[in-house]
Amino acid sequence: MKPAPDPVSPLDALAASAAPRWRTATEFVEATLKAAILEGRLPGGTPLRQEELAERLGVSRMPVREALRQLEAQALVEVLPHRGAVVAEISAADAADLFAIRRALEPAALRLSIPHLTEAQRDQAGALITAMDVEPDPGRMGLLNRQFHMALYAAAGHPRLLALTEQHLAAFDRYLRFHLAAQGRERMAQQDHRAMLEAAARGEAAAAAAILEAHLDQAAEAIARFFAAREAGAA
Ligand code: NI
Repeated sequence: MKPAPDPVSPLDALAASAAPRWRTATEFVEATLKAAILEGRLPGGTPLRQEELAERLGVSRMPVREALRQLEAQALVEVLPHRGAVVAEISAADAADLFAIRRALEPAALRLSIPHLTEAQRDQAGALITAMDVEPDPGRMGLLNRQFHMALYAAAGHPRLLALTEQHLAAFDRYLRFHLAAQGRERMAQQDHRAMLEAAARGEAAAAAAILEAHLDQAAEAIARFFAAREAGAA
């Protein structure tokens, strides 16, 4: 006989609250789990068993497997040896680690890029700022922010540096999304984005790098405060 599922699983509440607006079962499972992870309703380390998820969310195992794969690609889910898929751990220490890496890599990439940035590349960065102004979804906002930053670094001409930069920006994404989901999108420092782009247009690499460093420092402080407040709330 199959063991009965845990009667007080938080997954039941997820299934009940999920909006019926998804085109496919995979999208439904992905969006439902993503929202729960970002909002902290499924804490880091929570096991995500395919069979249990399929049963509780009322779908077959195929879309669950695909959704978990997509969430893993977004760093929201980790697949651990002998344990399977679990909700990725996020922590103040990990966020600080990622900020330190971003602070080392991104100003360097920006300085290298600015002298070679074309008008088309600056226009693309400008269009991404405009898109962020009206983007309501924190998940999409994370992607747009990453694309904006990478657009400014695009002309750096150092493929290994850019690959490392993009990798850590992507890893950082979950913190930005988490932060935006909890704090609202007005927390996006769009004035910094505009100031960086304007400095880039004037060819002022050092000024743009200084704005970027302050931009990252302020974001790091805001996220550290956010974690401290969450911990104080949980205590
Ligand atoms: Ni930014």
